[in-house]
Amino acid sequence: MLIRKPADLRPADVTPKSVYLDRRKFLAAVPAAFLTARELLSPRGRALAGTKLNNVTKSPFSTTEQMTSPDVVTHYNNFYEFGTSKNEPSRNAQNFKTSPWTVSVEGDVAKPRKFSMDEILKLAPLEERIYRHRCVEGWSIVVPWIGYSLSALLNAVQPTAKAKYVAFESYWDLKQMPMARPDMAGIGFPYVEGLRLDEAMHPLALLSVGMYGETLPPQDGAPVRLVVPWKYGFKGIKSLVKIKLVSGQPSTTWNLANANEYGFYSNVNPDVDHPRWSQAKEQRLPSLFKNHPTQMFNGYASQVAGLYSGMNLKKNY
Ligand code: MTE
Repeated sequence: MLIRKPADLRPADVTPKSVYLDRRKFLAAVPAAFLTARELLSPRGRALAGTKLNNVTKSPFSTTEQMTSPDVVTHYNNFYEFGTSKNEPSRNAQNFKTSPWTVSVEGDVAKPRKFSMDEILKLAPLEERIYRHRCVEGWSIVVPWIGYSLSALLNAVQPTAKAKYVAFESYWDLKQMPMARPDMAGIGFPYVEGLRLDEAMHPLALLSVGMYGETLPPQDGAPVRLVVPWKYGFKGIKSLVKIKLVSGQPSTTWNLANANEYGFYSNVNPDVDHPRWSQAKEQRLPSLFKNHPTQMFNGYASQVAGLYSGMNLKKNY
């Protein structure tokens, strides 16, 4: 999402000169370049090393599109707390301590409460939901997440009439995440996100505790993260520790970092380009080509378009 500094990524290392001299083409080529140069050269360990999750039911919300391999999904990540390159989180988050863990759900609610991970795992039946996952950078994957609708957790604390939005916050600890500093990552910490309450209550909004039949690996947001499949991936905040029901629109990390490029809504939209690249097509990993048509609301329009009726989606990007 950031234009990387020369010290981090030298285009000449991975991209032909003719491509990297053209900024637009260069940005489109970065993900593929990482996959080819880095991923192919270094042998990797197990894709997942989590605990198997039992009693997981299939969900009618799942796509029948071909799933992306776990190897790609767990080694091509955005998790700036553990480094800004796609292959860094899988290496740097390996010893991330995710137990004990609590998520505080507070604010404009009748019953504020801290949930242990054990309580979160038992709050509602676990479902496997195979969702398309589209990053604002232009790449996409198809992931069999495990979890349940975020609404189950929100209903448990009984939002009051004052609650209009939901603010989310990630874990942040410089001891475990020495790179989670604005001068190193280019964004502020802790990572924060937000949704309107009706978006958060939509059944597709998923509180995820696992993928591919197991608990989440650290690099994918262990032990619990948000997945909002009709929005760009940066709305899917990882390693959640706080959820606060509030009356005003919450701040969000990428909007704070660059308001011209990242708005609050961030709905996947092929007709609203990022200021620096087109959003009409996406790169469905592991393909090297950005030739897969982007779908309105990432293909979930029939379920979620009603949330935005009467709204100017070009203005509210
Ligand atoms: N959550 C935190 N805490 N920190 C991050 O850097 N990156 C976001 C989102 N959640 C991020 C985060 C972005 S930009 C994307 S695209 C998705 O996580 C990536 O999720 P994945 O690595 O599981 O594909």
